[in-house]
Amino acid sequence: MSSLAFKLSRGIINTITPPIPLAYTWAEKYTGKHGPLLDMSQGSPGNPPQSALQSALSAASISTDSFRYANSSQGELVLRQAMAEEMCSDAVYGPGSDVTAEDLSLTAGCNMAFVATIMALADAGDEVILPVPWYFNHQMTLSMLNITTVPLETRPENGFIPSVAECRALITPKTRAIVLVTPNNPTGAIYSPGLIHSFFALAHEHKIALILDETYRDFITPPTPFPPHTLFANPTWRSTLIHLFSFSKAYAIPGHRLGLVAASPSFQTPLTTVLDSLQICAPRPIQLALSQPGLLSSLRPGVVETACTLEKRRALFGRILPRGWHVGSIGGYFAFVRHPFKGRNAVDVCRKLAEEVGVLVLPATFFRGGAGEASESWIRFSVANCDEEGIRGVYERLERCEEIPGWEIETE
Ligand SMILES: Cc1ncc(COP(=O)(O)O)c(C=O)c1O
Repeated sequence: MSSLAFKLSRGIINTITPPIPLAYTWAEKYTGKHGPLLDMSQGSPGNPPQSALQSALSAASISTDSFRYANSSQGELVLRQAMAEEMCSDAVYGPGSDVTAEDLSLTAGCNMAFVATIMALADAGDEVILPVPWYFNHQMTLSMLNITTVPLETRPENGFIPSVAECRALITPKTRAIVLVTPNNPTGAIYSPGLIHSFFALAHEHKIALILDETYRDFITPPTPFPPHTLFANPTWRSTLIHLFSFSKAYAIPGHRLGLVAASPSFQTPLTTVLDSLQICAPRPIQLALSQPGLLSSLRPGVVETACTLEKRRALFGRILPRGWHVGSIGGYFAFVRHPFKGRNAVDVCRKLAEEVGVLVLPATFFRGGAGEASESWIRFSVANCDEEGIRGVYERLERCEEIPGWEIETE
């Protein structure tokens, strides 16, 4: 690599490189001897978008409007109205909810929603509390902006659920926000409505923001309590809550980059200043497609059907794991699993799984910035990526690992 004559930003130098490409370098060494690579690494939808959405998108993408900038960085008003209506319906947060189009901004994906939110509410040197393990792009964003990540440890014995009391002890005058992801990436843990409400109360008491990333919200299935929370029915929600959502998973359109921020109009003003500079507007074809009258609500039964399919995959995955493998938590797209090999850390195990048996999964180490590598034994499986046949294939290959010399299983 040739050297640069100029300096890089301090923020970027201190930020980890995206970890998923590293996992793909392991997979390149797999010879294919057990069949095609079974990829359970990335959290990407295993299903195509619904056909009504595909048709609307192909029409929208050649419409004259789709070639132009939008009039507002907040996004297509008709789509924001449809989203607000859906969020207040039985299908999502329940009819007591109060969300309007003025509370919503559309962004180029949920990662952009997070970056813009953080830029609008924190400065270099401020602190943001993130439960560990975290969604690595959240921590990378904070690091790039020279904002201090304050880790809030979660533990297997508590199902990777964060503690409100422990969080309280981490709050300082520099704290600007608490970030929660539920259903969680990477653990799959789903936080109860009561816990989410307690975190809201804590944030409200300390006059800091509660950022709630609900990218996987539509994959909550019974018997898990639904709606996931009733914060939008709380008359004070706008003082404290910043809700983030991604269209990537529920509508199976990650390539079209659409996300959403729900927050007070008083926060939307600074947020749109950031969005105007970063994205000008979110991609228009997908916004125009989803703005077709009645389309968004007509897609809901398909979203529910996908959630049921995923529920079956999760149940199958939990049932058939070979001996020694232990599911610590599971929900949404992910299962968080402890491997059974003696004296091996998760990075080593994931590398071997990719190279030797063609199963690509991510070590928990990737979700805590590399810390704790030596003793880490948890692995994230993205259950959404594989169909039932793929999951059975993963099971067979995990069993084969026991045949690899030197890979001794820990017996209880
Ligand atoms: C918790 C969480 N937030 C945000 C995103 C990014 O979503 P988008 O594709 O809308 O940027 C992901 C994607 O994996 C995620 O897991």
